[in-house]
Amino acid sequence: MKIMVTGGAGYIGSHTVLELLKAGHEVVVMDNLSNSSEESLNRVAELAGKKAEFHKVDLLDAPGMKELFEQTRPEAVIHFAGLKAVGESAEKPLWYYKTNVAGTLNLLDAMEAVDCKTIVFSSSATVYGEPEEMPLTEKINMDAQSCYGRTKEHIEDMLVDLAASDSSWNIALLRYFNPVGAHESGRIGEDPSGIPNNLVPFIAQVAVGRREYLNVFGNDYPTVDGTGVRDYIHVVDLADGHLKALDFVAKNGGLRTWNLGTGNGYSVLEVLHAFEKACGKELPYKIVDRRPGDVAVSYADPSSALADLGWSAQRDIDTMVADHWNWQKNNPNGYEG
Ligand code: UD1
Repeated sequence: MKIMVTGGAGYIGSHTVLELLKAGHEVVVMDNLSNSSEESLNRVAELAGKKAEFHKVDLLDAPGMKELFEQTRPEAVIHFAGLKAVGESAEKPLWYYKTNVAGTLNLLDAMEAVDCKTIVFSSSATVYGEPEEMPLTEKINMDAQSCYGRTKEHIEDMLVDLAASDSSWNIALLRYFNPVGAHESGRIGEDPSGIPNNLVPFIAQVAVGRREYLNVFGNDYPTVDGTGVRDYIHVVDLADGHLKALDFVAKNGGLRTWNLGTGNGYSVLEVLHAFEKACGKELPYKIVDRRPGDVAVSYADPSSALADLGWSAQRDIDTMVADHWNWQKNNPNGYEG
């Protein structure tokens, strides 16, 4: 299939492009490189033995995107492009709504104009907010607690309305839990700009000497050791879930929503200790106040993805952190080095 991947130079995008190329798909990447590097795609090409076609186009450039779709005529889209920092979204809500929501609207217009009606959308478990029940099933109502999360909710709503209006659309909404790790080669991985917001990239920078210590955000949650519990999922398992979801909706039509997580939760300190084992050194940390907006525990019920797609995460927490470390130690400054 010919597949357009928006945000394909980014962290999850580049890993997915690699799996798509390996599976024999033709891939066109559209990325504005605002938070990613084209070097990731050079390395994907080296690993896959073939290249994805690359176009530097912004989601907010509606005419540019229309032209790109007319020129490339993809059969399906995997849509990763967007802004993703929770804290920043509270400071710049209009920028987040414009980029994520209006940008997706531009994308859907460009798709419709060339009768490309199959899309896999990068949603997030953050849409669940702070529900009482655990594990999180797809049936729980969305109630995102941040501006970033609400942009994901709005896009999901838009896609639900679109599918209801026109049954020729094929749509997969994928709610990711916490993506970590890197391709086993250590050639591609997560390269956050500035200070990492997320736990594992932060720990990796402590391990490589770029940061002094980890701030652990609270140790008074009702969890195994008082620190927050999350469902970490290996980025290659996540990428694989996209291929299976695309295949399913392309064949069966309609709109479907799946959680992509492992179903297991690990605390901040458990992840830290797993990373220490992987890198062979003790990593300093300090307990600090809770981060506003954090929930105590979040993990998936991934049984729908298993039942419908035959997908389940294959890589355990030790593999996740070992692969993350392998990437970080070989690329201490990310793609720049
Ligand atoms: C965060 C976002 C979520 C987004 C996801 C993308 C928030 C509130 N949520 O999820 O919307 O979809 O990233 O991957 O930002 N932690 C530390 N020290 C750190 C960083 C994190 O102790 O320096 C803790 C957190 O308190 C949490 C856990 O580690 O318990 C995981 O944090 P993080 O990696 O930021 O992911 P989420 O908060 O789950």
